[in-house]
Amino acid sequence: MHNNIKTQFPLLNNNKNLVYLDSAATSQKPYSVINALTEYYNNANANPHRGAYSISIESTRIYEEGREKIKRFLNLPSSHEVIFTKNNTEAINLVAYSYGLNFINEGDEVLIAITEHHSNLIPWQQVAKVKNAKLNYLYLNEDYEITDEEIKNKLTEKTKIVAIGQVSNVLGTVNPVDKVIKRAHELNAKVMIDGAQGLPHLKTDLSKLTPDFYSFSPHKIFAPMGIGVLCADKNLLEEMPPFMFGGDMVEYVYEQETTFDEVPHKFEAGTQHVEGVLGLTKALEFVEYLGYDYIEETDRELTEYAQERLNSLPYIKIIGPKEASKKIAVISFLVDGIHPHDIATILDSKGIAVRAGNHCAQPLLRFLGINSTIRISLSIYNEKADIDKLIDALEYARRLFGYGHE
Ligand SMILES: Cc1ncc(COP(=O)(O)O)c(C=O)c1O
Repeated sequence: MHNNIKTQFPLLNNNKNLVYLDSAATSQKPYSVINALTEYYNNANANPHRGAYSISIESTRIYEEGREKIKRFLNLPSSHEVIFTKNNTEAINLVAYSYGLNFINEGDEVLIAITEHHSNLIPWQQVAKVKNAKLNYLYLNEDYEITDEEIKNKLTEKTKIVAIGQVSNVLGTVNPVDKVIKRAHELNAKVMIDGAQGLPHLKTDLSKLTPDFYSFSPHKIFAPMGIGVLCADKNLLEEMPPFMFGGDMVEYVYEQETTFDEVPHKFEAGTQHVEGVLGLTKALEFVEYLGYDYIEETDRELTEYAQERLNSLPYIKIIGPKEASKKIAVISFLVDGIHPHDIATILDSKGIAVRAGNHCAQPLLRFLGINSTIRISLSIYNEKADIDKLIDALEYARRLFGYGHE
């Protein structure tokens, strides 16, 4: 058990009245992460991979040690490598541009889930358009699940790649990524897993899961913004052309030709985000200090409590499974008679930060027959008292809109 986790987050310490319920958008950062950035600028700031002097060598060490940390954290198979990008979106675009545009051909099929965030949807839509391939979707049944039958029907000999999120950022549901990977590999199709909403909540062992590509969003797991991670099969990366060109990713450059550095460097053009990688290293150490058992238990407790309290209000409609056990730290809902954006504004006036809108998942919302929701998303620094304040503020919003005297 960890006490006073909240006190390890300066923003929450400095804003005692803030109820932060938007961790799926970005998590708050602990002191250990923030202090590491200052420490880096105070003592080690230099361009990595370039200088022969000691602080540049130190900067290179910090950066490359971050790569090794991620490999250990995810139990990455030795066949895979880590590439740093500017965010999760760029990691997915790297795969779409470099793998998609070069290995997917006319008549091939690309399969994605209807739950996808635009970041793991539009890149594949573009690949399908440019290459005259077909974009297919895995849809949900009435219990918001992708069934075995759906996987069996949609994955065919023509499928070249499946791109699917580990956890939905709107519904909080866990997609059956293990089943998708198993079936895809039987059919020689590749799989790209978007771990943005998965890794902050679920212990993830990539040696067991074995996706060809796995990306995540460090700023959602306590790390700074501006850094992204792609883990990918080295054999594929060797065959894939660079996605961006410039300094530090080359071997020899001639007037008309260039040879490229080895994987992973050929995919990391330009000056690297060393302090972002350091912050990520510290963030992963923070997760290890908490332990996934603790994280998963806290998520479960808070999600169950929030779902139960929301369910007790007759004017709330939860979008997604009714059972809290089927979702992880994310709950979408509607308030009868009040638009989600109005709710978000009223909640803000009470110091409560939630997300309202389509959550960058327009096709999912259209599939569900709605155009926006209010979304709360929880993390280990939340407490049941935060949910109580949310419920009080929702009651206040209803009164404000004249529903209090029925
Ligand atoms: C499921 C999912 N995928 C992708 C992204 C995009 O990540 P980023 O904005 O960090 O690039 C998000 C961000 O909200 C997300 O929730």
